[in-house]
Amino acid sequence: MGFSVHEIRQDFPALAQSVHGKPLIYLDNAATTQRPVQVLEAIERYNHFANANPHRGVHYLGTEATRAYEQARERVARFINAGSRKEVIFTRNATEALNLVAFAFGLAQVKAGDEIVLCISEHHSNLVPWQQIARLTGAKLKYLYLDEEFCLTHKEIQAKITDTTKIVAIAQMSNVLGTIYPVREIAGWAHSQGAVVVVDAAQSIPHQVVDVQALDADFLVFSGHKIYGPMGIGVLYGREELLREMPPYQFGGDMIEYVEEESSTFAPLPQKFEAGTPNVEGAVGLAAALDYVESIGLKQIAEHERNLTAYALEELRKLRWVRVHGPLDMAQRGPVISFEIEGCHPHDVATILDTYGVAVRAGHHCAQPLMNYLKIPASSRVSFALYNTKEEVDVFLESILNVRKWLGYGS
Ligand SMILES: Cc1ncc(COP(=O)(O)O)c(C=O)c1O
Repeated sequence: MGFSVHEIRQDFPALAQSVHGKPLIYLDNAATTQRPVQVLEAIERYNHFANANPHRGVHYLGTEATRAYEQARERVARFINAGSRKEVIFTRNATEALNLVAFAFGLAQVKAGDEIVLCISEHHSNLVPWQQIARLTGAKLKYLYLDEEFCLTHKEIQAKITDTTKIVAIAQMSNVLGTIYPVREIAGWAHSQGAVVVVDAAQSIPHQVVDVQALDADFLVFSGHKIYGPMGIGVLYGREELLREMPPYQFGGDMIEYVEEESSTFAPLPQKFEAGTPNVEGAVGLAAALDYVESIGLKQIAEHERNLTAYALEELRKLRWVRVHGPLDMAQRGPVISFEIEGCHPHDVATILDTYGVAVRAGHHCAQPLMNYLKIPASSRVSFALYNTKEEVDVFLESILNVRKWLGYGS
């Protein structure tokens, strides 16, 4: 059973507005998603009736805040099928979660001569921290490169991930190409070589079931704001035995057990990695967002987004002056389409589309090594969410024709 996208849209106040006198068509969902009233109201309820510091106050509000925060953790654990709530650490975003893994795990475990393997399409958040670890430890970075279909081959995976690989850090879905990488297969091979696997699920989490145990991920990260939740809350999943051995990432209140003048002992998981007052309203909002997504069903969402993506790709391919960067095979991709319009700079494309109310992204998408690899300075990108409609895709496609006209091309 599908769902009624027109009913769903009633839940998203942001979508009901006009921009530049035109109905807003929000196609920048890979950057951030809009939030449903169910999320906004959950945050408001928490702020009205339960705001206090969790884990500290013994008074009523303190225990309410603790309950809300820890229930949100349980909610996340269920959503990604973590073995226990101790494996779920709240962070500010995916970037902070990746820095936590890099600096608490990587810095302690990686030695000179070890290799860290990344995919060439990594977002800077899953690339720059590893550059720093390589620089500090004397390890070497190695990249997985893509075939002509913008995918990874078995051959490439097996050639690059070897018994000198210590860490493989890879996005489950590229924020530029839309490629879905075979993370389960990569984890299986990496583990056979003795490497640890860090999965960046920032893009995949709103579009497919992410099961950390089925993926056999050692670490997995995502941000709340890309799955209809608020900004300022992210998640690090880590295998309990790895997290237990890792030193803390930040130090201060809430993450300690006993503190003496000269030394301290640290709290058990998950508090060991959550120094200071946490973002409880963010966690509450994220839990509400996960409830929302599950109430519709990830399979139904994926099917709806797949239809939009297949339609948009088919129509874009009819335009001889459009070049799509990403797989054409729907089995290999998610709902993110990067493209170039011949003779038009991506920033001009995004600016002109904006005048039609169509919000798209232009630039290097925080993936400069990929841009260099593709030999392009930038691209335009549309990305779909559960609330987008075929009619919106049609307006986007019509507006693209206008972009060429604006810039002086006959067709
Ligand atoms: C694949 C990928 N990883 C990581 C991030 C970083 O997410 P955040 O800025 O929420 O930390 C993004 C954001 O666009 C992303 O697309």
